[in-house]
Amino acid sequence: MKKRTLLTIPLLLIAGLASAGPQDTVHSIALPTIRTELKAGEGKEKTETLCATCHSLDYITMQPRLPVAQWTATVNKMIKVMGAPINEDDAQKIIGYLTMQYGTQNEGRR
Ligand code: HEC
Repeated sequence: MKKRTLLTIPLLLIAGLASAGPQDTVHSIALPTIRTELKAGEGKEKTETLCATCHSLDYITMQPRLPVAQWTATVNKMIKVMGAPINEDDAQKIIGYLTMQYGTQNEGRR
C-alpha cells in the first residue's frame, strides 16, 4: 500500500463524520403541561398529593364509577404492590373520597 492511500483512509473517515447529515440534528419539543383537577370533596387534597407522585391523576378520572370494594383494592394495590408511601389513615380518607366522587353506591353495578 502506498503512503498516500494510508493517509486517504482516515481523511475519508473524518469527512464522513463531519457530514453526518441533518438526521443527527437535535430538535426540542415543548410538551403541554396537563394537570388534571379532581372533583371537589373531602379528601381531594390528600388524594391529589398522594396519588399523583407516580402517575397522572387521569388514572383516577379515567376509571368507570367503581364500587367501594374496588377502590379499596386499587388503593391497597398502589400501597402494597407499587410501594406508595401512604399510611392507613390517609388510605381510608382517599378510599372514602374516591368512592364518594368517582364511585358508585351500588356495589354490583358500574
Ligand atoms: C408508588 C407509585 C404509585 C403511587 C403513589 C400511586 N400509584 Fe397508581 N399506579 C402505579 C403504577 C406503576 C400503575 C400501573 C399499574 C399497571 O400498569 O399495572 C398504577 C395504576 C393505577 C391505576 C390504573 C388501574 C390499575 O389498577 O392499574 C389507578 C386507578 C391508580 N393507579 C390509582 C392510584 C391511586 C388512587 C393512588 C393514590 C392512592 C395511586 N394510584 C398512587 C403506581 C402508583
